[in-house]
Amino acid sequence: MSATLRFDNIGKVFPGVRALDGVSFEVNVGQVHGLMGENGAGKSTLLKILGGEYQPDSGRIMIDGNEVHFSSAAASIGAGIAVIHQELQYVPDLTVTENLLLGALPNRLGWVNKREARRFVRERLAAMGVDLDPNAKLGKLSIAQRQMVEICKALLRNARVIALDEPTSSLSHRETEVLFKLVHDLRADNRALIYISHRMDEIYQLCDACTIFRDGRKVASHPSLVDVKRDTIVSEMVGREISDIYNYQPRKAGEVRLAVRNVEGHPLKAPASFEVRKGEIVGFFGLVGAGRSELMHLIYGTRKKKGGEISLDGASIKVRSAGEAISRGIVLCPEDRKEEGIVAMATVSENINISCRRHYLRAGLFLNRKKEAETADSFIKLLKIKTPSRRQKIRFLSGGNQQKAILSRWLAEPDLKVVILDEPTRGIDVGAKHEIYNVIYQLAERGCAIVMISSELPEVLGVSDRIVVMRQGRISGELKRSEANEQSVLGLALPESSTTAEAA
Ligand SMILES: Nc1ncnc2c1ncn2[C@@H]1O[C@H](COP(=O)(O)OP(=O)(O)OP(=O)(O)O)[C@@H](O)[C@H]1O
Ligand SMILES: [Mg+2]
Repeated sequence: MSATLRFDNIGKVFPGVRALDGVSFEVNVGQVHGLMGENGAGKSTLLKILGGEYQPDSGRIMIDGNEVHFSSAAASIGAGIAVIHQELQYVPDLTVTENLLLGALPNRLGWVNKREARRFVRERLAAMGVDLDPNAKLGKLSIAQRQMVEICKALLRNARVIALDEPTSSLSHRETEVLFKLVHDLRADNRALIYISHRMDEIYQLCDACTIFRDGRKVASHPSLVDVKRDTIVSEMVGREISDIYNYQPRKAGEVRLAVRNVEGHPLKAPASFEVRKGEIVGFFGLVGAGRSELMHLIYGTRKKKGGEISLDGASIKVRSAGEAISRGIVLCPEDRKEEGIVAMATVSENINISCRRHYLRAGLFLNRKKEAETADSFIKLLKIKTPSRRQKIRFLSGGNQQKAILSRWLAEPDLKVVILDEPTRGIDVGAKHEIYNVIYQLAERGCAIVMISSELPEVLGVSDRIVVMRQGRISGELKRSEANEQSVLGLALPESSTTAEAA
């Protein structure tokens, strides 16, 4: 079952974009091959070619020395390839069992016995360490669970090559562990794996080899990562040295801008209180499920509050909807930007201007095209959004560049007072993170009060003036920048051991 996968001189052009330009590298069996590169570097495009969704304009794919052609997704599957894409496509009404057996065993007619099919699926899922109801409808599953179903499908088909495109970007810590174990098992079982991620830790933890793309070209392939420094990979990715990605400069905080007192509501386990001053960046850290996003939605009026008070610049305010919040200069850029924010059929410019345009209406009625174009172009420049123009449909942008455009939408609001950012750099490459931090600092310089939720501890430590930690639905502590380090923050975030809980 051995397979060596080789990409040979692959090229792909879209209107106005050379997505891949003469890319060659090899993936060996029994190895996890990392693929890294900035947003828009061409990583997903390569996997779509491997998966038979796009045809390359030039070059060829070889398996075990033989050239293969994938004119369709089915052809790629037939050749033993499984690609788990960045954006999963699924039919919400299918059950887990139907989905798995439909794709996996198309020619087996023996599955009329539904009970037996379910039992078979239950056993396979259990063997993978995945706790899932075979009867559950796909539409009811979390992204992580749907991803597990996809991987399980690849296993059932006995795929020889398995490619994963940013699989952990929406997984919790625990789900990530399950995934990593699966990847390890697959490697031990002599499959060839391709793994795309923007998270350097994961690349070092999982991958044997690594290839780096920049602007559609391969800039480096490392057959082993043992002696390769992180800085080397970062500079290969971005084409320049980034000495300190956080580039934090202390600022003087002003008066209290946002004061949250005893806010209550589902699923918080205790009333929550905190303050953010003008020009201050407060990081919110916690494990997935600690209640950080939910607390922010209670403040923002997009979740129903049961009690508590919110003040802005010393005056108590009522916020019952996002519209009310925005009209007071409070914005929340949600975690699930894709599902909550994107207007896929609209252009990059429309996606950026959709909220702020009401301020620029001419005669209170007509869109101010000139102003909108300026706003869009300024954010495309500021965040280095990779697009042929502001008129490009947003769905043609790479995953990370879509994120940047949606982030711009909130930052484009004039007169911002409070900015709440939920995982602002998820899916965003190292170089662009740097740019996003600079935008956050600029907002703080202008006197905005900033709340930044992040699950990446180095980011929270690197960017925040102060850190609030949440654990299991309550605020468990607060640390000044000078007191905060990995240990002190994790100490407040991790579940208390049962003995201390009893003592308390
Ligand atoms: N269907 C398409 N039509 C037009 N342009 C496209 C299409 N698909 C991708 N592109 C462009 O090709 C380039 C490479 O995109 P790709 O999605 O491969 O990047 P990526 O490396 O996966 O980035 P990310 O890390 O943000 O996911 C981008 O500039 C993107 O806008
Ligand atoms: Mg991608």
